[in-house]
Amino acid sequence: MLRARVVLNPGAVVAPVSRRTFGSFVEHMGRCVYTGIYEPGHPLADEDGFRTDVLALARELGVSMVRYPGGNFVSGYRWEDGVGPREQRPRRRDLAWRSIETNEVGIDEFAKWAEKADVEIMYAVNLGTRGVQEALDVHEYVNHPEGTAISEQRRANGAEKPYGIKLWCLGNELDGPWQTGHKTPEEYGLLAASTARALRSAEPDLELVACGSSSSSMPTFGTWESTVLEHAYDVVDYVSCHAYYEEHDGDLGSFLASAVDMDFFVNSIVATADAVGARLKSTKKINISFDEWNVWYLSRFQNAPLPEEWKVAPRVIEDRYNVADAVVVGNLLISLLRHSDRVTAACQAQLVNVIAPIMTEPGGPAWKQTIFHPFAKTAALAKGDVLRLHIDAPTYETAKYGAAPLVDAVATHDPATGDVTVFAVNRDVTNPVEFSVDLSAFEGELSVAESWILADDDVYAYNTKEAPERVELRSFDGVTIDGGTVTVTLPKVSWSAIRFTR
Ligand code: AHR
Repeated sequence: MLRARVVLNPGAVVAPVSRRTFGSFVEHMGRCVYTGIYEPGHPLADEDGFRTDVLALARELGVSMVRYPGGNFVSGYRWEDGVGPREQRPRRRDLAWRSIETNEVGIDEFAKWAEKADVEIMYAVNLGTRGVQEALDVHEYVNHPEGTAISEQRRANGAEKPYGIKLWCLGNELDGPWQTGHKTPEEYGLLAASTARALRSAEPDLELVACGSSSSSMPTFGTWESTVLEHAYDVVDYVSCHAYYEEHDGDLGSFLASAVDMDFFVNSIVATADAVGARLKSTKKINISFDEWNVWYLSRFQNAPLPEEWKVAPRVIEDRYNVADAVVVGNLLISLLRHSDRVTAACQAQLVNVIAPIMTEPGGPAWKQTIFHPFAKTAALAKGDVLRLHIDAPTYETAKYGAAPLVDAVATHDPATGDVTVFAVNRDVTNPVEFSVDLSAFEGELSVAESWILADDDVYAYNTKEAPERVELRSFDGVTIDGGTVTVTLPKVSWSAIRFTR
């Protein structure tokens, strides 16, 4: 059998686990908001029209932060359409997704939902069709305490206290020609810098995210970040990364190695940002907000035209996820955690119905997709510090990334409890791999507290409304410890998590 090995060292700390790594994304797109989080009249809707089954699942998923309200949607959005008396709110065309936005839900409703879900809001402003003034206006609405025209409007609308939103995205994917208001890096860099300066005059300690590349395959990848940061370095804290992965033409091997691209993406943008910092002789570091990532069968979407008819909440990109997709999602989380020194915020896109871990039927049930499971377990178990690992693993040839390691892993150590958790994937499409973890550097004898595996003979198995538990985590038996070394056999195409305790 093929073998992989890792030695853990409690002193080799990358950084503390950032809770913001477990962010998600709610966009006014398809059925994410309407019939996703919000469905008045549903038997499980609460007094505000929010689906309590979805709220419970969002809590179980362990989501810490939610980016809102878009996405491509935000680049044509007028935030003020979504506040005030509902019957007076306009219906508008959403050009990004060719649908009708009723504005029944706006920032006041979303802030209520976020409070119930116990998540931080990451708010994106429109820098596609709008600019500095509108960004200042929405900031005044949500964060200014009282006594000004726009903050009093919020109070009159029922929210006496400001929402205190700290993390702000300066637009969305403005490097993409598909984006309403697409810009050159020069144009965007100037606009992002002037918007950031204005927002900081209103509230100096905001955390601001400049748009980075929409994928590592963008022709402007790297040069976009470099130019934007030349203008905005001093006034922003983050640059964003977005990445979606899918299995192309039955090439499961390459797909399972998607985290190789995520690692490359992060390393390249960290290097680019640090190079700009060096040129500017700055000691400040720009961190990464990986605020859109997931598996998305984007090529199917690109090959299918958007609906002819303008509809409210049409079914758009409701991808159904299989076991392999869940293994990739687990691996992408491994990659994000591994980079915790520089990736300190991330959002899986999206939360409900639209390329999402949670699915709903209007008037019907909500259920978990396969990708729900590695996310929820990682969010629950990754505690304390992320450890720096060197994994000694055999490699396999992939068409997309060349030689890739068969096993990928990350570990966390919580100094408060002494717990150590290892997250691992086996990317081999046919064979198990024996994986040993040397824990002998930790004080005291560690034993297995819990161990979980996501694997299936059918790597394309998925959950449905009728069979919502077809793919679940199973308890991972057969973990042996011998003299401080743990050995497990990782099945083909699998994701697993093992927590050790003293
Ligand atoms: O998450 C779906 C879309 O993907 C978002 O609206 C956009 O930002 C990205 O291209």
